[in-house]
Amino acid sequence: MKVIGGSASKLLAQQLIEQPGFEAVDMVTKRFPDTEYYVKINDDLKGEDVVIIQTTYPDPNIVELFLLQDAVSRLNPGSITTIVPYFGYARQDKEFTNGEAVSARNMAKHIGLISNRILTIDIHNISIMDAFGDHANNITGMTAIGEYLASEGVDAILSPDAGSKDRASVAAGSAGCGWDFLEKTRIDGSTVEIKPKSLDVEGKTVAIVDDIIATGGTIIKASEQLREQGAKRVIAACTHGLYTGGAIPKLKGACDMLLSTDTLESDTSKISMASIIVEALN
Ligand code: R5P
Repeated sequence: MKVIGGSASKLLAQQLIEQPGFEAVDMVTKRFPDTEYYVKINDDLKGEDVVIIQTTYPDPNIVELFLLQDAVSRLNPGSITTIVPYFGYARQDKEFTNGEAVSARNMAKHIGLISNRILTIDIHNISIMDAFGDHANNITGMTAIGEYLASEGVDAILSPDAGSKDRASVAAGSAGCGWDFLEKTRIDGSTVEIKPKSLDVEGKTVAIVDDIIATGGTIIKASEQLREQGAKRVIAACTHGLYTGGAIPKLKGACDMLLSTDTLESDTSKISMASIIVEALN
């Protein structure tokens, strides 16, 4: 397979091309003086199975992905698979109040236009997958996160809300420990409340897992709950470490360890999704 890594997913693309059967595509990307993107592919892709990998956050990476898809499609490839490690706009997944754009569905529809197959990773709301088209699959980082947490000796894994409880269950299955979920209410974009719930965490190492950590508000509130109930060590783990508004220092103050996968590259990206992507592609 021929691999094209967009600017937001260069390291993941590099790991893919190190695997047998994957090969880098020779291409040029640059910006015009007005900052618009320019994309040119130098290889002959006729009949080739091409994989384009690009996280669609922040916004300029969406435009770059569209141009990469266009350039590839013009070279008559055998197939195009678009991998979106972190799918931006995923959380605006419905019309919460009348008149809003349903961003997740709209973005998915456009990303799916020039692709035979789409692969996402721990998408926030699985029910929007149909918006990408007929051949979209979602894979999870929770199994790998669970393995990592097992090596840290976790006794229990929690999700901060019921919506993420399947993720906690998958991570716990892989870690070989118990799991539970908290009950979060979102007040606004940066404020959440977590209802007190009696948990058996006294003296234990507990991990909170979530798909996305953005402001960190959710994890910080959840961690406070666990500490109040006597947890000895609190680990925060997510697939997508978005970390907006200086979240990392606040999270490091609230938790003993912070980790994420490499769908968004940062210092906390201790778990690579590369081998899981390769498995899904083969
Ligand atoms: C929301 O339902 C997601 O699963 C995450 O819990 C949320 O995006 C975390 O956001 P923040 O870090 O800003 O609390």
